[in-house]
Amino acid sequence: MYHETVLLSESIDYLNVMPGMIYVDATFGGGGHSRLILQKLGGKGRLYAFDQDEDAKRNTEQQEFSANPSFFFIHSNFRHLKRQLRAEALRSGTVNGILADLGVSSFQLDTAERGFSYRFEAELDMRMNRLDGLTAADVLNTYDAAALQRVFSELGEVRNSKTLALAVLRLREQKPIRTTGDLVDLCSKNLMGDRMRYFSQVFQALRMEVNDELGALEAFLNDAYEMLAPGGRLAVITFHSLEDRMVKNFLKAGNIGGEMNTDFYGNITRPFELITKKPVEPREAEIAGNPRARSAKLRVGQKI
Ligand SMILES: C[S@@+](CC[C@H](N)C(=O)[O-])C[C@H]1O[C@@H](n2cnc3c(N)ncnc32)[C@H](O)[C@@H]1O
Repeated sequence: MYHETVLLSESIDYLNVMPGMIYVDATFGGGGHSRLILQKLGGKGRLYAFDQDEDAKRNTEQQEFSANPSFFFIHSNFRHLKRQLRAEALRSGTVNGILADLGVSSFQLDTAERGFSYRFEAELDMRMNRLDGLTAADVLNTYDAAALQRVFSELGEVRNSKTLALAVLRLREQKPIRTTGDLVDLCSKNLMGDRMRYFSQVFQALRMEVNDELGALEAFLNDAYEMLAPGGRLAVITFHSLEDRMVKNFLKAGNIGGEMNTDFYGNITRPFELITKKPVEPREAEIAGNPRARSAKLRVGQKI
């Protein structure tokens, strides 16, 4: 299976899909969320699905998508949401709901040559869009110690981030760091705490850096607010505490820092009505069947 969809019924129920309206699935992946949105549209309305990954794009060749006149695929980073919708699709107007299910798909993680996983020997690539940007090997071989330390500590919460950054510099003086195996060896020699957890943290940090995942999320949130019609909903599933904080702040204040804005009279202006007061998390049964769902958090707001 390409990807086991997380929080499927919860997220689509909260999106409040109504036939005849216009929706965006910013992270098509295996199409699990898109499929249910299309079912709810029942042939009336439109769904614009984004994904920057060539492999995800191939999933749109399945009949249920390619032959559905309500379905439109946009092969792009969701950080360009507004520009892409304006240019390719909606020349004017707004949309009624936007969903994002962040991170990587199981397919990306399980495809050895993509280099996302410490479980397989491969080149350290980790780009979701393989036509663009630095690879994880480029990051490891070119960033200075301070920049590497920031990546490990901020994005991976690696406790000995400085030690690890310095170890990267020492290793690359001898030979370039090229493969997942090189990085696994390096991590093994500098382990702190649980082995698997440490590997996950380091690999996740690099993946988030390579794909500028926090930068893309901020740009996406701003565009999503602009593209939503009043009453339209924004639903975001995150898997990382920094992302969850960004989404929480944005829904509350309209910016990722969470500073409240006021109008001319000093009254606080709210961008969204919070539909989920607390984040929605998967039930035990879902986590038992899909361990990747463990850290998922869904937050939903309705544009005021
Ligand atoms: C967790 S998967 C989505 C799974 C999907 N909801 C499903 O049910 O099959 C995330 C997908 O979003 C894509 N993605 C992540 N960040 C992106 C970005 N900034 N722009 C476009 N696509 C992105 C990834 O390539 C991946 O296919």
